[in-house]
Amino acid sequence: MRQFTSVADVPDVQAMIQEALALKANPFAFQHLGKNKTLGLVFLNPSLRTRMSTQIAAQHLGMQVITLNADKDGWALEFQDGAVMNGATVEHIRDAAPVLGSYCDVIGVRCFPGLQHRETDDQEHIMRQFIRYTGKPYVSLESATLHPLQSLADAITLTENRPKHRPRVVLSWAPHIKPIPHAVANSFAEWMNRMDVELVITHPEGYELNPAYSGTARVEYNQQKALEGADFVYVKNWSSYRDYGKILPQDPSWMLTLSHLNATNQARVMHCLPVRRNVELSDEILDSPASLVQEQARNRVFAAQAVLKQLLEKN
Ligand code: CP
Repeated sequence: MRQFTSVADVPDVQAMIQEALALKANPFAFQHLGKNKTLGLVFLNPSLRTRMSTQIAAQHLGMQVITLNADKDGWALEFQDGAVMNGATVEHIRDAAPVLGSYCDVIGVRCFPGLQHRETDDQEHIMRQFIRYTGKPYVSLESATLHPLQSLADAITLTENRPKHRPRVVLSWAPHIKPIPHAVANSFAEWMNRMDVELVITHPEGYELNPAYSGTARVEYNQQKALEGADFVYVKNWSSYRDYGKILPQDPSWMLTLSHLNATNQARVMHCLPVRRNVELSDEILDSPASLVQEQARNRVFAAQAVLKQLLEKN
C-alpha cells in the first residue's frame, strides 16, 4: 500500500481491522519501524481527533511528527495550473509540495471540499496534487469526498461490538445548521459495503449520496421504517449532493432521540464527532450506554497506527 485515500487502497479490510486490534492490545510493539522517520501532517481545515490520534499513532511507532496548520500558519497555497499569482495566494502547490516531500517520509493532508463545484470536489483536485508533487507515501486525513481513517475506526468499533448474527447497520441523516461535506457518510457507506453487514441508508428525499460510494445499499426515505431491527445506527449530517452543497428544507424530527430507538434491536449509536448536541443527536443518547462515540474516537489511534505501519513496512 503506497497511499491510504479510500477503502479501495486496502487489499484486505478484515486483515487491517485485525492488525489495528492487535496494535490496540500492544501499542508499542513496533517502535523500531518509525525510527528516524518523519510524518508530516498538513491541515487545511480544523481538527481535534484526526490531528491528535494520528500524532499518537505515529509516536507509538517511533516516528517524529511535524504538524503544519496550513490554514493558519502556512503561506496561502495556489492549486490552479498556470495561475497568474497576483492575488491572495503566495505559494504554488508545485513548489510547496516537493519541499514537504523532501522533509518527510510520509505525508498526511486534510483538505475539505469547497462545496461549490461538484466536479472539482469529486476529482479530488487538491489531494491529487499533494500526492503527485510530494512523491511520498500518503495518508488522507479527510479529503473532499472521503474520510477513510474515520471509517476504519468505525469498522474496528463495529467489529468489537458485533452481535453473533449479521448486523443491520443504518446510516441515518441528521439535521444541521450548516452545509456539511459528504466525506464521512460516503466513506462509511463504502467501508460497510466491504464488510459482512446489511447496510440501510435513510435520509429525506434530495439527500441521496453519490452512488459511487453508496453502491447497492438500500435507501429508505422513512426513517422509522429504516430503524426497525437495527443493531447499529450511525448518525451523520450531509448537505445535498444533487443540489450540490445546499441545505434543503429540514425536518428537526430526524434528530435521533431515545424514542427513535424503540424499533431497533437495542441499537448502539455511532457518530464521528464533533456533534451538535440536540440538533443531530440528543443529550439522552450521547450520555447513555447506547452511545459508542467515545469508543470510535479512541479507535482513531489504532486505525491510524495500522495504516502508518503498513505504509512504513511496504515503502
Ligand atoms: N471525526 C473527526 O475527523 O474529527 P476531527 O474533525 O476533530 O479530526
